Amino acid sequence: MTQKIRIAALVSGRGTNLQAIVDGCRQGLIDGEVVLTITNRAQAGAVDRCRREGIPCLYVDNRRFSSRESFDAEVASTLRQARVDLVILAGFMRLLTPVLIRAFDGRIMNIHPSLLPSFPGLHPQQQAVDHGVRFTGCTVHFVDEGVDSGPIILQAVVPVLDDDNEESLRQRILHQEHIVYPQAIQLFAQGRLKIEGRRVRILSSSG
Ligand code: GAR
Repeated sequence: MTQKIRIAALVSGRGTNLQAIVDGCRQGLIDGEVVLTITNRAQAGAVDRCRREGIPCLYVDNRRFSSRESFDAEVASTLRQARVDLVILAGFMRLLTPVLIRAFDGRIMNIHPSLLPSFPGLHPQQQAVDHGVRFTGCTVHFVDEGVDSGPIILQAVVPVLDDDNEESLRQRILHQEHIVYPQAIQLFAQGRLKIEGRRVRILSSSG
């Protein structure tokens, strides 16, 4: 049996991806456990989810810190103390600094609601509608020091319909996010992700 990995989630919003991952762990789809959640928003919906699920949730108020680096140093130290194997960003609306990225090099994942490298940054669904693309989707990637730019693990494609707006597209993409994020985490848990420069090789399950 595979050893369970210790997962920490950084969240700022509703936490539906966090929920999908917690459910995936409980259902045995992920050989892991969410041992800690950190939020920079006390009112985030994800906080209520943690309470319901009995997952420790730590609120770190970024306004207490004089720099992004000092906030990240505190987060990195907390994650180290919790002996975390993998950090997942699940709607965490802050850019990480090298302080945190280097502390967990190759062990931080993010999900972004577009087919990267198209439409990084804010409002990717609106960007897709405005640009007139026929397909968009979501991307799970390792985090590097750029914005939504790290090596890509998995993607899912979502068609853009003629009457789509930001909200309708957001919902259909989110549905796919809840499928691919747990899958990517399970590949990591199984030790099947190998970063080779910009590319991520997925090793076969037999090794
Ligand atoms: C998700 O759509 C996620 O892809 C996006 O925030 C939403 C969080 O929803 N993340 C980004 O845009 C990061 N650049 P959730 O809180 O319900 O999981």
